[in-house]
Amino acid sequence: VIDFLTWIEASALGQLMRQSGPWTYPIVNLVHIFGISTLFGSVVVLDVALIRAGFTRKMPPQTMAAIARGAAPLAGAGLVLAAVSGIGLLASNATEYIGNPFFVIKFPVIALGLANALMIRRSQAWQTLQRGVSAPADTRRLAWMSVGSLFTWSAAISAGRMIGYW
Ligand code: HEM
Repeated sequence: VIDFLTWIEASALGQLMRQSGPWTYPIVNLVHIFGISTLFGSVVVLDVALIRAGFTRKMPPQTMAAIARGAAPLAGAGLVLAAVSGIGLLASNATEYIGNPFFVIKFPVIALGLANALMIRRSQAWQTLQRGVSAPADTRRLAWMSVGSLFTWSAAISAGRMIGYW
């Protein structure tokens, strides 16, 4: 990891981040925040809908499908934006994060959130809901994964913000 941090800091991207003017870092940071808010905003809408569908049955499957169609691609786009801008932020001063516990926590937590999202997408219940049909047997399991999703992404945001205060 230390080798990677040293390498990315010395890379052309790192030099570009540091030498292209005082506004580069703030703007890339802003893009990071827009990515995170797009990701988390969509995730909250999607997860709350899935939790309602699983635990209350008050969410018609057609409504669920419509929400998922809008929110799922947006969440993906937010994650891509956060990842691309995050690499830029990292390259500008990567070695400063050596020994930072929140830095060590953040990336496994993001991996967990991503794995959870992929598991939701591949589940039978998700596929069924996409077709506007209710599958009560496993929507409850999907709802628990959505609870996990809310916790995981909240943890990723918390760790990300805490990196700067260590
Ligand atoms: C996957 C690639 C990512 C990389 C390489 C990355 C890297 C970084 C870096 C280097 C910082 C600046 C830390 C500092 O010095 O304060 C940062 C800030 C932050 N990151 Fe990420 N990040 C990534 C994805 C994410 C994701 C997916 C989330 C949330 C879901 C996230 C949440 C945050 C937050 C909340 C901050 C603090 C922003 C601020 O206070 O201005 N990051 N990230």
